[in-house]
Amino acid sequence: MKKIFISVFVLLNAIFIHAQNTPLPYKNPKLPIETRIKDLLARMTLEEKVGQLNQVNGGVMTGPAAQGDPGAKAKLDMTRKGLMGSFLNVIGANETRAVQEIAVKESRLGIPLLFAYDVIHGYKTIFPIPLAETCSWDLALMEKSASIAAAEAAASGLHWTFAPMVDVARNPHWGRVMEGAGEDTYLGSKAAYARVRGFQGDLTDNFHVLACMKHFAAYGLVEAGREYNTVDVSRYALQNVYFPPFKAGIDAGAATVMNSFNVVDGIPATGNKYLVTDVLKNQWKFKGFVVSDWASFGEMIVHGYAADGKDAALKGINAGSDMDMESGVVMANLVQLIKEGKVTQARLDDAVSRILYYKFKLGLFEDPYRFSDERREAATLLNDNFIKAAREASQRSMILLKNENNILPLSKNLKNIAVIGGLAESQTDALDFWSGKGEAKDVVTILQGIKNKLSQATISYTKGYEVNYVQNLDAVYNATANTIAEAVTAAQKSDAVIAVVGLSGKIAGEARSLANIEIPSEQLKVLEALKATGKPVIVVISTGRPMIIPWLDKNMAAILYAWMPCTQGGNAVADILFGDYNPSAKTVMSFPYADGQIPVYYNNFSTGRPHTDSPTNDGSNFWVSRYRDIPNAPLYPFGYGLSYTTFEYSKPVLSKNVITKGEKLTVSITVKNTGKYDGEEIVQLYIRDLVASQVRPVKELKGFQKILLKAGESKEVTFTLTSAELSFMDADGKSHLESGDFKVFTGTNSRDVQEASFTLK
Ligand code: NOJ
Repeated sequence: MKKIFISVFVLLNAIFIHAQNTPLPYKNPKLPIETRIKDLLARMTLEEKVGQLNQVNGGVMTGPAAQGDPGAKAKLDMTRKGLMGSFLNVIGANETRAVQEIAVKESRLGIPLLFAYDVIHGYKTIFPIPLAETCSWDLALMEKSASIAAAEAAASGLHWTFAPMVDVARNPHWGRVMEGAGEDTYLGSKAAYARVRGFQGDLTDNFHVLACMKHFAAYGLVEAGREYNTVDVSRYALQNVYFPPFKAGIDAGAATVMNSFNVVDGIPATGNKYLVTDVLKNQWKFKGFVVSDWASFGEMIVHGYAADGKDAALKGINAGSDMDMESGVVMANLVQLIKEGKVTQARLDDAVSRILYYKFKLGLFEDPYRFSDERREAATLLNDNFIKAAREASQRSMILLKNENNILPLSKNLKNIAVIGGLAESQTDALDFWSGKGEAKDVVTILQGIKNKLSQATISYTKGYEVNYVQNLDAVYNATANTIAEAVTAAQKSDAVIAVVGLSGKIAGEARSLANIEIPSEQLKVLEALKATGKPVIVVISTGRPMIIPWLDKNMAAILYAWMPCTQGGNAVADILFGDYNPSAKTVMSFPYADGQIPVYYNNFSTGRPHTDSPTNDGSNFWVSRYRDIPNAPLYPFGYGLSYTTFEYSKPVLSKNVITKGEKLTVSITVKNTGKYDGEEIVQLYIRDLVASQVRPVKELKGFQKILLKAGESKEVTFTLTSAELSFMDADGKSHLESGDFKVFTGTNSRDVQEASFTLK
């Protein structure tokens, strides 16, 4: 009896000790994530579950202050109560650690927070804007810059970036074109894939963060390019133009997607079941979570789609959106909606599980501070390798648009160089609204870059025009008779005149739509005066969007489109102007010839009365789709950009003239570097499906290769076309591969091509 008693005692003791040493299932890293989520869900109250769907701002404002914002103290109290899933804009190793401690140590279940921030083109080392970087057509570079941005962000305590922006955008009035990959779906999809991979890696180390593709969907179509404006788009266009980059990013493993602010089919994206549930979650099997845009749950009331906060929460959550950024309506109403049976427990659990999944996946339950390490932060930010990578990325992103008489590259032996323009020396204006934690003091300006390059020469800098600010936001440019006279004098004394014009970065990004995207008139006055000196003028354009520049094209000797220069842009400009880098970038947005053309893009449909752009009013071109006063064609077409060398293309040779469905077709061309410099060329392939059950674009990019050719060298470039490139979607997302005739175009840009034909049987 005594023996039995002792054994029972020993057994119970062992069980007790085991129970004490065995973590709760959700805290046990050895268990599969799904098991841990299930266990945790079973322990959570309804309020705690809803709390996971709540994201609030905790730092800099990247949107309007919320009505009835509870304030910092109340937000931390909610965190203590386990009523907070995520903060945006709490950044820095120290800050994130302090807030995370509250969630982990003081809340009942210790569920860690996710910290999110807009790391769009760099966190501290600011890379070229995504639009510019896409002009490199260099996917490895895009992946690398995203991975560096992620490494810096992660070292500063962040888990999640609201990037990449993958909205196809064709209207440069929209300030946000800078954030995306331009007008083309095919290239945009490749860029989306590369950037998601770059930000996220496989999420198994401390150097990557969750990516967030935005804005789902069709935000790039805001009418007239006015921010937050309405959108009217067909499902056919959604499926073929606006969806594919999102799909590509999901294939790359994107963890999150953000709703857009706009309506689609008359329903705000946040409450749009077709977008969020039918397409994203069901059709594409997206397993991550959907975060609203800033207050977009609540804005459904203003749209006139929801009666009040409760209705907005109901519509957004039932549409499939998972996390409410900044509007608070989910936190305020979802518990009640569940109790009333209007939102099911299953929908709530699904949303919570999707969010928890990434908290587990990032290892935050094991080490909630793994990203918040001050020493790592100090060692990581702006390190030399990152700076070097930013300079290379900038070189590869800037486009040479004109180079009359090969005025560029300039000799490094020149003695007197005039640099003109307020933007040339401004560090502040070289960064844009989405420059993360980048600081103006770390920017190498264009003037400084030129000085760094030519230490022996005399560089005479004059402003020509000044950059001033209205309400510390909008930049204005002022030239006086004096500043112009100084510029003219400097130009007259110089061996080369470099004028820097464009727009301040303060006007690039969200809420920065512009009705006028010409070079500001005060800057033009300076350029006109410089031209009058008779000296050839080299213009460098610093801006976040394609601008309307036919006057410059006609009157300036050379144009280098530098985009927003950012941290290393000044050095890159000098590298290009003085021949240390032979420019290779090609534009991914057509440059309008005039405002009335916008939106102008290469992959339009044919009208019933197409116009061939012959420059005549000869009567034969009367009843056609054209402008009477300007060409239909843009000033610079999609895919256009010059090099210091020249390339010659052979005609495309097809492996067959007739293929059957499923069969592959190869297209080969030989490209020769016929100039004096080694150079990189972006070889492009387009197709046209001539007759289909729905009209197809006059050209569609379906392949590109960036090749390096030494002076005099030739290379054969081969593209393969498969069913994927030859098919298109119908409005319901069903893929069509239709027999018929196709054209293939190859060339150096979307306009200057040679063609061949084949038939698909
Ligand atoms: C609104 C913007 O549309 C979105 O892109 C951004 O991520 C959020 N604000 C957060 O700053």
